[in-house]
Amino acid sequence: MSYVVLARKYRPRNFAEMVGQSHVVQALSNALTSQRLHHAYLFTGTRGVGKTTVSRILAKSLNCLGADGQGGITAEPCGVCQACTDIDAGRFVDYTELDAASNRGVDEVQSLLEQAVYKPVQGRFKVFMIDEVHMLTNTAFNAMLKTLEEPPEYLKFVLATTDPQKVPVTVLSRCLQFNLRPMAPETVLEHLQQVLQAEAVVAEVQALRLIARAARGSMRDALSLTDQAIAFGNGQLQEGAVRQMLGAVDRSYVLRLIDALARADGAALMQTIDTLRLNGLNAASTLEEMTSLLHAVQRERRSRPARDRAPRSGHAGRRDPAALQPVPARPGRAGPCARRICGAVDGVAAAAGFQAWRSLGGHSGKKKPEIGP
Ligand SMILES: Nc1ncnc2c1ncn2[C@@H]1O[C@H](COP(=O)(O)OP(=O)(O)O)[C@@H](O)[C@H]1O
Ligand SMILES: [Mg+2]
Ligand SMILES: [Zn+2]
Repeated sequence: MSYVVLARKYRPRNFAEMVGQSHVVQALSNALTSQRLHHAYLFTGTRGVGKTTVSRILAKSLNCLGADGQGGITAEPCGVCQACTDIDAGRFVDYTELDAASNRGVDEVQSLLEQAVYKPVQGRFKVFMIDEVHMLTNTAFNAMLKTLEEPPEYLKFVLATTDPQKVPVTVLSRCLQFNLRPMAPETVLEHLQQVLQAEAVVAEVQALRLIARAARGSMRDALSLTDQAIAFGNGQLQEGAVRQMLGAVDRSYVLRLIDALARADGAALMQTIDTLRLNGLNAASTLEEMTSLLHAVQRERRSRPARDRAPRSGHAGRRDPAALQPVPARPGRAGPCARRICGAVDGVAAAAGFQAWRSLGGHSGKKKPEIGP
């Protein structure tokens, strides 16, 4: 049998298998259970977070016949009836997915809408899924407004987009909108562990942590990277190999860089940068690793009790009572060394046009460093 990539093999087949997105799952489950169904849904969210998956599960929920053939609309599609298996296999005649990215025009939309007048052939409901709907032309949007507002009772629309800002308000206002969130690295990590256990692939946690972070919130990306890493590591997932594959930077380099910056040791800094360049490691991931490390330091300092951070007063071993108060985040508190690091990192980040640093609260904006002396 040919190999099926992990992302496809492990597509959730019911709401219970969905990772994260509980707000969407719960709302849809309740609507299905109480049979209060809207006729048009819009799922938004970045790539690989479950838009297509939710749409297929919804189509199954609407059309499931139950294992005994007697079932009705349900929040827990059986997965074994004709409707469920056909939708999973992508051959259910009443479920149509239109990729608006490659079918942008009014003709394509109209030929889909022409199908709307016919009752479902096989199931209870027809479901029209329009993916990347923001790519439709204005005329195409206008052509669908009427049907989208008042479709026949057997027709449901599911629209999906990574870019809801580009969807006209006339369309938005006719849909029930759900935003699928990017996944936290820990959530991705847990899911990867389950998948790899099912696949009987040995994996180091540290390797999976790297992949989970590199996926940037997308479960599909995480699974694709895992596939790639399995091939790269010849069936195993080891930290070193994954780091190499991702071009991720070893923490020891980052520590060396920060150390050099703190000591204002230009020669050591340039030497480390040269080593990184020789090893083919790019600046963006180096900076990213640096920001994440400095961010962790900052978090650690903030979470430590004030007592541990209080400077000692003149008397041997005795602490100044005034210094036992939590240290407020004042720029003046950052020592010259921390200020130098922050200033230098900001400079490098700005030069590289590196946005993530700023989103973590980079130091050149209004927010001031909280790294103490
Ligand atoms: N919430 C999720 N839970 C588990 N796996 C997911 C989830 N979202 C995405 N995936 C994985 O990513 C793949 C692609 O998801 P898909 O729903 O097609 O993403 P998109 O949002 O781009 O439509 C799925 O086949 C599945 O393996
Ligand atoms: Mg999709
Ligand atoms: Zn079923």
